[in-house]
Amino acid sequence: MDLVVEGRALVRGRLGRWAIGIEDGKIVEIARKVKGDRRIDYGDNLILPGAIDPHVHFRDPGMTQKEDFSTGTLAAAYGGVTTALDMPNTLPPAVTAQELKNKKEVIAQKAWVDYGLFAGCMPGADIEDMAPLAVGFKLFMGSSTGKLLVTSDSDIANIAAQVRRTGKVLSVHAEDEALILNDYEEGLSDHLRNRPARAEVAAIQRLSRLDCRINLCHISSLEGLQATNGRPFTKEITAHHMFLDRSSGARAFAKVNPPLRTPEDRFALFRAFISGRIDMLGSDHAPHTIEDKEQDFESAPSGVPGVETTVPMMLAFIKKGTLPLKVLVRAMAERPSEIFGLNKGRIEEGRDADLMVVDTRTMAPIKINNLHSKCGWSPFEGRDAIFPRAVLVRGNLVVEDGQVVGERVGRDVVVAK
Ligand code: DOR
Ligand code: ZN
Ligand code: ZN
Repeated sequence: MDLVVEGRALVRGRLGRWAIGIEDGKIVEIARKVKGDRRIDYGDNLILPGAIDPHVHFRDPGMTQKEDFSTGTLAAAYGGVTTALDMPNTLPPAVTAQELKNKKEVIAQKAWVDYGLFAGCMPGADIEDMAPLAVGFKLFMGSSTGKLLVTSDSDIANIAAQVRRTGKVLSVHAEDEALILNDYEEGLSDHLRNRPARAEVAAIQRLSRLDCRINLCHISSLEGLQATNGRPFTKEITAHHMFLDRSSGARAFAKVNPPLRTPEDRFALFRAFISGRIDMLGSDHAPHTIEDKEQDFESAPSGVPGVETTVPMMLAFIKKGTLPLKVLVRAMAERPSEIFGLNKGRIEEGRDADLMVVDTRTMAPIKINNLHSKCGWSPFEGRDAIFPRAVLVRGNLVVEDGQVVGERVGRDVVVAK
């Protein structure tokens, strides 16, 4: 056995004292005692599956002044995220097989955690060609950072039909471009007025006519949530849409798409999350530099960072008793692994040994200086969080007690045939 990790692990839905035997990066034995030369005993600390973040923007290639694959994946590791799925609105955008291959080459040696790449869908894209390289497909129905946008029903239907044949998931930024206004904006309330909840609802209704596996990114409104009732979509939610609203006062730093909405919206979303009605927790980590965000509201780009803070803030709610541990683990690991077909997400024999170790006594307010994204700011400064004490990627200890202790072991979860 290469390594045995002991502690209070979540195994088959129950917390108990287990020893986890790891060989060649996989969990091979779970028992009360496992023999092995190298053992780490984490005592009564929790051992949970590493989180799979189904939605990050690591800006590599093309915008590496905001983030790159090295800083993005290191921030992920510190935040308990052992797999990050990266969006295609990089420069150039990942919208052809060749661009996906180029992007893979650029990032290959940089990753601290495992990753997968989304292929961007534009009208006329060769989806079959991209499928073997991509973990999933991404469609923007409303415009945001970058130029990816598809607005016509016929183009969307065409894309969905092709994605269906690949068997992969189509993750959608569901805001209907036709209902987005471009009126002058001075603050978060104006941004919300320009991007109303009905734009989210309309996009969801249009998607309902399609026959392919659709994942709704960042559900942001109560109406949007209601519009998904009885429909076979999977749903993803961000921390910012649950914890921030238009009155958050952070000006352009909190400008994001879909926009921050009302307190009622975010409370309803948090309740839905706590009760297990949302499939996946995703950060939509969208770093922009402080300089970008200090521009006047109208010119500042949309997006907030979150890959390092999302899971730790949720762990604080576990400690406070607001959020059931099983609900969190399902949304941060089990459902993403099922939805994207990854052999990860559970502490189970045969799965990748992606683990986080959590000492719930270490709750503390988030400090910018302790974060690792290149962007150097967070809308969650001062919020309670529990950062994992240790993080293992396929059995490799990457981060422990606030220090990097391993190598850049991150691999692409998709191996092109
Ligand atoms: O606010 C956003 N920022 N929404 C998006 O859809 C894209 C993201 C980004 O890449 O900056
Ligand atoms: Zn989006
Ligand atoms: Zn996004």
